Amino acid sequence: MKNDRIIGQVKRVNGPVIEVMGITDAMMYELVRVSDENLIGEIIKLENETAIVQVYENTTGIAPGDPVYGAGIELSLELGPGMIGTIYDGIQRPLEEIRKISEIYIERGISVPSLNRDTKWHFIPTAKAGERITGGAILGTVQETERIKHKILVPPEERGVIESIVAEGEYTVEEPIAIIRRGEETKELTLMHRWPIRVSRPVKQRLPLDLPLITGQRVLDTLFPVAKGGTVAIPGGFGTGKTMAQQAIAKWCDADIIVYIGCGERGNEITDVLTEFPKLVDPRTGRSLMERTILIANTSNMPVSAREASIYTGITMAEYYRDQGFHVAVMADSTSRWAEALRELSGRMEEMPAEEGFPAYLPTKIAEFYERAGYMETLSDRTGSVTIIGAVSPPGGDFSEPVTQHTKRFIRCFWALDRGLANARHYPAISWLESYSEYLGEMSVWWEEQVSPAWQQDRAEIMELLHREVRLQQVVKLVGPDALPDTQRFVLDVCSLFKNSFLQQNSYDKIDMFSVPQKQVKMLHIIVTYWLRGSEAIKRGATLVKLRKMKVYQDIIKMKFTVPNDDLSHLDTIEARLERSLSQLESVYA
Ligand SMILES: Nc1ncnc2c1ncn2[C@@H]1O[C@H](COP(=O)(O)OP(=O)(O)OP(=O)(O)O)[C@@H](O)[C@H]1O
Ligand SMILES: [Mg+2]
Repeated sequence: MKNDRIIGQVKRVNGPVIEVMGITDAMMYELVRVSDENLIGEIIKLENETAIVQVYENTTGIAPGDPVYGAGIELSLELGPGMIGTIYDGIQRPLEEIRKISEIYIERGISVPSLNRDTKWHFIPTAKAGERITGGAILGTVQETERIKHKILVPPEERGVIESIVAEGEYTVEEPIAIIRRGEETKELTLMHRWPIRVSRPVKQRLPLDLPLITGQRVLDTLFPVAKGGTVAIPGGFGTGKTMAQQAIAKWCDADIIVYIGCGERGNEITDVLTEFPKLVDPRTGRSLMERTILIANTSNMPVSAREASIYTGITMAEYYRDQGFHVAVMADSTSRWAEALRELSGRMEEMPAEEGFPAYLPTKIAEFYERAGYMETLSDRTGSVTIIGAVSPPGGDFSEPVTQHTKRFIRCFWALDRGLANARHYPAISWLESYSEYLGEMSVWWEEQVSPAWQQDRAEIMELLHREVRLQQVVKLVGPDALPDTQRFVLDVCSLFKNSFLQQNSYDKIDMFSVPQKQVKMLHIIVTYWLRGSEAIKRGATLVKLRKMKVYQDIIKMKFTVPNDDLSHLDTIEARLERSLSQLESVYA
């Protein structure tokens, strides 16, 4: 950055945190370059003539007295076509492009634009010269991938009259496509614009959440549904299935765009993301899932500061696509690693530590992150949403630690992973006792209107049964199952059926890996029918053995594997047969 001005000199280096002295003119969150090696950094504290700079590259060899250059802008992203399908690091540097330049590991001070400068995009203008426009207005479109029609937005803070706009044709992200005039001033707009990562993009208003984000995972959609624009935490101890759960959601959920932030620090976690994701195929279209995905991966040779920034980078990208009218789902895996990065940086800045060494502002930071989720009316009167699903990895699986506890205050949906279930290979290991969704009320309306009027009642029935089972299991522990009457043993029986045939879902099975809402509702209704009518039969004298011996019972056990999503008629057959078998049984005891 040749045009940068010197803003001060390095005073002290402490890992990725650098103290800069002699500051005369600089601003908070300004993007800086440290020393003539051009290391990227950001001013995160400014006091009198001293600044604290967080550096996003290895600072070995940086010494007191080295110059620090200010770029005059905040650390920001380049937002425009070309992000979908790209793998970025925490500060939006495209990893593939960097690899091409520095083979083995990322060299320091490398400068690669976030959006490719040579790619020509086919721009179709929709705005016209003479129109008065405000920030967020749509100038035209670019087909970014097969399924994403990218809207080219006027930057939020701009407005004026379009003096000229280009004709349909091929343009790079830097070529001017429109000129707008505001009073005496004119401004050239391009296919991309910049936006600071730490500032949420403006919207017209927040809308009530009334659409579910369908994940295709039965335990989530049916028991603990999340809204589009909602917030979820997935806490779970080591190896309980956080990453698998997030990947299943990334694969199957009905968002238009996925932003996946890999915050892990272990090399293999990142490799998994980098190698697995690009291979994934969208089951609905048969095309690569990368056509709707942006990956952010914190590579192991990047300092913790990049991990801290990656969360904001991801959410800013998500907001940008939301502003185009898309539903975006952000996965962060895991926010605990991000919080640990905060802790380390705070320690290096010698701030006063609070609980378990985390800075006192940890809750504020977590709140600010989740607040960027929502279902919004955009500046251009469209609607779009950002849903945030953050994994939390509490040390020792202990949910009382600060990150889990503070996260719980700011999210409305909690999908708790259970060690016992994971050990028993019950996947997804989502605890039906500890998890909750505060979106239930809003989501019921959608399910009942769009899928089945029985949804809420069936769901409530099964949840009550699962809670009854807990109490019964305590009795069983004392006296054994045989001491229970059939009516109570039937509760255990139905719960076990529900767990095995409904809650457990095999991510590797072609049919079971994903269930459309209609399939979920029908499966649930069959099991609830079995429960309600079966209890009646037992009350009249039928035995448990007789119930289990009904031929249709075996079909119920297998229905998740045998009934494909695109032909649910077999479930109606099962339901009809169940009704018949139960009627027969009842008639015997009538
Ligand atoms: N839905 C699932 N279906 C099948 N296997 C699963 C499922 N979820 C988890 N597993 C098994 O559990 C293992 C650990 O899962 P995963 O890596 O998602 O856990 P994690 O909580 O992300 O672990 P870490 O704490 O190391 O990040 C997987 O390798 C897989 O064998
Ligand atoms: Mg993991």
